[in-house]
Amino acid sequence: MSNRSQTGWLASRFPIAASFRRQYLDFAMPRNLNYLWNFGAFLTIALVFLVVSGIFLAINYTPTITSAFSSVEKIDRAIASGWFIRSLHIGGVSMLFAALYIHIARSLYYGSYKAPRELVWITGLCLLILVMLAAFAGYILPWGQMSFWGATVVINALKALPLVGTPLSNWLLGDSSLGDVALHRFFILHFVTAFAIIGIVTLHVATLHVVGPNNPAGIEPRRPEATLPFHPYYTTKDGLGLCLFLMIYAGLIFFLPDILTLASNYVEANPLVTPRDIMPEWYFSPFYAILRAVPSKLGGLLLASGSVLLLFFTPWLDRSPIRSARHRPRMRWALRGAFLAFILLGLAGSRPLTEGWLWISRAATIYWYAYFLLVLPLLPRIENPNAMSSIQDTHCL
Ligand code: HEM
Repeated sequence: MSNRSQTGWLASRFPIAASFRRQYLDFAMPRNLNYLWNFGAFLTIALVFLVVSGIFLAINYTPTITSAFSSVEKIDRAIASGWFIRSLHIGGVSMLFAALYIHIARSLYYGSYKAPRELVWITGLCLLILVMLAAFAGYILPWGQMSFWGATVVINALKALPLVGTPLSNWLLGDSSLGDVALHRFFILHFVTAFAIIGIVTLHVATLHVVGPNNPAGIEPRRPEATLPFHPYYTTKDGLGLCLFLMIYAGLIFFLPDILTLASNYVEANPLVTPRDIMPEWYFSPFYAILRAVPSKLGGLLLASGSVLLLFFTPWLDRSPIRSARHRPRMRWALRGAFLAFILLGLAGSRPLTEGWLWISRAATIYWYAYFLLVLPLLPRIENPNAMSSIQDTHCL
């Protein structure tokens, strides 16, 4: 059989090469994308690094409370390049979260959540929740002081949920206290979620490819000259961005490996000694600040989880026909306020609780909710209703 007929035989049964060409190489992209559109590629690469390094860590990790801490110490100190694999994994989580928050901020700013991209947005939010779940479960695995006490805080908070709280925490614990059974469950939860994330990323990108990417102008390209093929234009641009991303990632691993981790997690878990300040990793601190800002346990839990769940409704809460904040000066200021509120919550959640930070957390939580529940639906009423037509004329792609 000739080479050509073999290709023809395979192509008529499984046209993967042709569909790869159509979906990735020739795919029409708006020509005006800026560097914020590189973050999807950064996320994908960070995820690959996390999965590969995670598999190597899992080979040497022991999920029992007597051996977990020492097996992680062994990876760091005794196994060839173990320190590097572990740093890749820990640094990768921070890089992933940093890129995720910028990716979401970009989508909020340019209105990428609006029709027809609601499904891209919703699959993205499912990813955010899965990534959070994987990070939470993963943090318990080294069985350090913060692993133990962080998990204790979360499991106790869960108990405050009416009806489902106690059964859910009992199911996670699988025993009368946080011990071997729970550690084993968190280990399984950690890597099962990692593979679920890969599946949902495929869905996320597939939904994006049906509707095509948004762009900074927020107007769909209507003329062929307004688009460029993904390859070579965006493969080059993504490649350049990736070099920078990997340089920062390498800088973090090789020069500042401990800057983002808490020293107390290098002390083995001790159920008899509670650390003075129980603090989450930086990427959870905005939600931790909300949890602490409310006097009631249940209220804190609902407001902290609600701050993410709220995002699912954004495509319907935002009533403006104009997509990009570039053309909405008032919305731009309001959104900057929401970004500031998130940063302030992050700072508050990573510090010991003082009166000042408590009030900052409360104000920022109120603003965060007000932005989504009041500003997004009501702002279009006071915006210039004729703006859309003038934008279409001046920014037609
Ligand atoms: C592991 C997590 C994720 C991965 C690997 C990922 C990957 C990607 C990729 C490759 C793109 C296309 C390139 C780009 O626009 O930057 C994209 C676009 C997009 N993503 Fe994600 N994403 C993730 C999480 C999220 C999250 C958490 C959200 C929102 C809550 C989100 C919302 C979007 C939206 C709305 C677009 C379309 C943007 C546009 O065209 O303007 N993604 N994502």
